Amino acid sequence: MPTIKDVAKMAGVSVATVSRVINNSGYVNEVTKKRVEQAISQLNYRPNNVARSLFHGRSQMIALLVPDIMNPFFPELARAVEDFAKLNDYTFVLCNTDDNPEKEMHYIYALEQKSVDGIIVVSSTVTEKSLQGIHVPIVALDRIVSAKLPSITVKNRDGARQAVRYLKQLGCKRIAHICGPDNVSNTKERLGGYIDEVKNEEWFLSSYVVSGDYQYDKAMDATKNLLKSHPEVDGIFVANDLMGVGVLKAAQELGLKVPEDIQIIGFDGISLGEKITPSITTMKQPIYEMGTRAAQLLIQQINEPNQQVQHEEYEVTLVKRESTK
Ligand code: RIB
Repeated sequence: MPTIKDVAKMAGVSVATVSRVINNSGYVNEVTKKRVEQAISQLNYRPNNVARSLFHGRSQMIALLVPDIMNPFFPELARAVEDFAKLNDYTFVLCNTDDNPEKEMHYIYALEQKSVDGIIVVSSTVTEKSLQGIHVPIVALDRIVSAKLPSITVKNRDGARQAVRYLKQLGCKRIAHICGPDNVSNTKERLGGYIDEVKNEEWFLSSYVVSGDYQYDKAMDATKNLLKSHPEVDGIFVANDLMGVGVLKAAQELGLKVPEDIQIIGFDGISLGEKITPSITTMKQPIYEMGTRAAQLLIQQINEPNQQVQHEEYEVTLVKRESTK
């Protein structure tokens, strides 16, 4: 494996000159620079990134932690972060945490040890306290971690209210809600928006709210039980699209037609929702825009550490498809 010394010897220059050429730092005349580049090419020399990060204190690497790599929402988010990282010459690392606090902190410590330059977290369990002692810029995406950490989220409660109001406009008389996991901040926000819209309805029952934990299987089972207990339900607001697919499956297995017998509206706007039949009406999050903005905020933090903390909240958009009339 050729080293920086081999390059210097072949080019007839010092190691420091080779380092300046590699890192594009400091003056090197064009003739010397050409000789060094030729030596690098002939020897097929590849700079040792660990040494370089030690030299600069930077790895040119950023990481994204997501809670569930099997939920299509997160790969769509990761795509945006990766694209922006690449555009800015950063290597991108994706970590799946299963919403497990131990696993999250293990990744955060390991990434800091590897001199990662910054971390974007989608987390329901990381706290300001658990991050004490971590000296790497962090941005919270999709879920707020603390007032001191920059964050990119959406107007969950407002989006939920829009969804339920739309079902009412379409004539639904008994509207249920399949919610996400208790420990996720936007579960509470979306549930809050649903309650805002139904709490004064004489038909509302607390048993109209069941959890699907943001997962397909749990949502399918929960919906079957809900509709067996409450066959009067004719509209369902689902807290994410992945559960929405499970709700569709449950309705179809119970012999219900969508949207004729029951109307369904989801949340997220993942591409899967438009590919299935019937396609799912949803409150679409600007997923790609959010991931891009989180990466942009993080790299700004890396380059200028004393940035003012920003909390940006995006609108969600109603996308009408086949699961509603
Ligand atoms: O579908 C996954 C859910 O978890 C999305 O609604 C997203 O907001 C994340 O919080």
